[in-house]
Amino acid sequence: MRILSSLLVTLCLVRLLAVVETQAAEPLPSVWEAGVIEATDLYGQRHSFDDGARTVDVVVFVSPTCPISNGALPRLRKIADEVARAAGPDRVPVRFVAVVADDSMTREEAIAHFQDRPLPFPVIWEGREALRGRLRPTHVPEAFVIDASGRVAYRGAIDDAYRAVGRRRPAVTKRWLADAVAAVAAGEAPAEAFIAPVGCRLEIAAALALKTTVTYARDVAPIVHGRCVSCHRAGEVAPFSLTTCAEVTAHAPMIVETIAAGIMPPWMPAANDAHPFLGDRRMTQKEIETITAWAEGGCEPGDAADEPALPTFTAGWRLGPPDLVVQMPEAFTVPADSPDILQHFVIPIDIPEDKVVAAIDFHPGNPRVVHHAVLFLDASGAARRLDAATPEPGYGKFSGPGFLPSGALGGWSPGNTPRRLPGGRGRHLKKGSDLVVQIHYHPDGVEASDRSEIGLYFLDEPTAAIIADRERLVGSIWTSAYELDIPAGDAAWRTSASYTLPKGVTVVGVVPHMHLLGKAVSVRAELPDGSKKRLVDIPAWDYAWQDEFYYQEPFPLPAGTRIVMEGVFDNSAANPSNPSKPPRRVVWGDGTLDEMLFCFLLVSAERTEDLVHVVLDNLRHDLETPRLPR
Ligand code: HEC
Repeated sequence: MRILSSLLVTLCLVRLLAVVETQAAEPLPSVWEAGVIEATDLYGQRHSFDDGARTVDVVVFVSPTCPISNGALPRLRKIADEVARAAGPDRVPVRFVAVVADDSMTREEAIAHFQDRPLPFPVIWEGREALRGRLRPTHVPEAFVIDASGRVAYRGAIDDAYRAVGRRRPAVTKRWLADAVAAVAAGEAPAEAFIAPVGCRLEIAAALALKTTVTYARDVAPIVHGRCVSCHRAGEVAPFSLTTCAEVTAHAPMIVETIAAGIMPPWMPAANDAHPFLGDRRMTQKEIETITAWAEGGCEPGDAADEPALPTFTAGWRLGPPDLVVQMPEAFTVPADSPDILQHFVIPIDIPEDKVVAAIDFHPGNPRVVHHAVLFLDASGAARRLDAATPEPGYGKFSGPGFLPSGALGGWSPGNTPRRLPGGRGRHLKKGSDLVVQIHYHPDGVEASDRSEIGLYFLDEPTAAIIADRERLVGSIWTSAYELDIPAGDAAWRTSASYTLPKGVTVVGVVPHMHLLGKAVSVRAELPDGSKKRLVDIPAWDYAWQDEFYYQEPFPLPAGTRIVMEGVFDNSAANPSNPSKPPRRVVWGDGTLDEMLFCFLLVSAERTEDLVHVVLDNLRHDLETPRLPR
């Protein structure tokens, strides 16, 4: 058996060398030529790396502080299991190891971390610097497939789970590491020798040389305090804290990438100068340049005396103690590895009389797996019946909540900040209604339990008085393009929809919605005098960061104003978010494989009758809007 496999190895080597030789005159040197690397894993077991081992080595650099790396562990486990199953006399034996690429944790912490995320192969601890120095990974996670003669046959990405930092694909379509291991174990050259890894960068090459006068304490801390720590601190939605110089330094390379790309802080709309939005998070060019110069200059801490104090945050509920806190009736278990889950939980609201809701805040019970939530109201009991019909907590449903909601209280996504509706406004919550919380879960590799909470903030005044003052009661109208028929392969399919206001209203906010093929959406108002106002313009739609956008100053739109929404969809194979491979024709629907082009306008009106008139007229318009035969 040994003889057979070493014979095979020799044969494979001959083939590999032949491949290498036809490409370049000089064969690649063995990475172990400079000396054997002796390492031990987290449990003290010894492992040596040299050409004598006669195995294919798969070395994957990981970091417990990098969310993209942690998310890849279940997929690595799967690849290792597949390779183990494929082992046989016609295959070169394969050895997998993970290597912790940084010093962010003690050994005990790392052991605990990997106990929660078990891998069927060792995690190298001592000797990690030597392996890092020899293989020079640029990112975590980054994989190296080293053939039995010590040559790197493949290096780079594990798969295409991410198209860029912060941009996750709905499904993996390319499994470069698995393919490379299978090829090398069978004695063949992999189809790809290098695929640029997407993940957390390990160093900025230029940073080492350059020095600048930008310091953390004086220049960077004020920006990070103002722009990032609201989410990047303990107990908040972001996966790591950015509250100290050390924390910001540790993530500096990735910070530079994400702010340059406009991925962080999360905020989709383009500047809306005439009618700016509440809570606009976009950074100025100067802020981006300052942080970049600081990182490239080697992350100078500067004089601690210059550093401003961290802003203080209300622990827990960001708008202060809510008037009513409700919770999912029981915990829901999210499996370690499964497709996305859309689960609906029915929560009876116990209030003695009607209320007006100025704001909501949502506390994900388990921020690791809660991706976003939408809050519907049901006064009909239909949601209770749907819940009762399934054994698990709540009910799963992909195409909408399964009933006609009697209202809605908005939604939550990680990018979302709770805000009170402007101008003392609120939404009507009828006594006896159920809150139906639709939660989208993203399993992350470890089984998780979630019991999310919702805080409701009511307006103080007597409800009857607020209801009498319609200018303060917010209603929703919408425009929707139902005749979506997006051909497979079309990279820029456009459509539009419009609605003309029968009465004047005050526009308070705008909530555009598309699914995964959405590329861009804009909504404008065409006034009867021929002038136009931009309501919202989202040049690069990202399903993950949808939000409700409220205007700092709600503004009037007269009767006869035409609301025009335009959307662009990318249904090509080149769209990495496209959930269908190959692309297929897509029509309107609320499942994730279907598409929508939809926009709520939150409006109020000076006169009671006008708001009612507009809401009813909008409903009639919606019913009359043509739909494609299904
Ligand atoms: C409104 C909340 C919020 C704000 C403000 C915010 N972030 Fe984030 N950030 C997040 C969340 C949530 C994630 C995790 C994203 C994911 O997993 O897709 C994240 C992820 C990141 C990542 C890792 C990217 C990745 O793909 O994992 C970096 C780097 C980052 N943020 C930097 C920043 C910086 C720098 C700022 C300030 C200039 C900032 N963020 C402001 C919520 C925020």
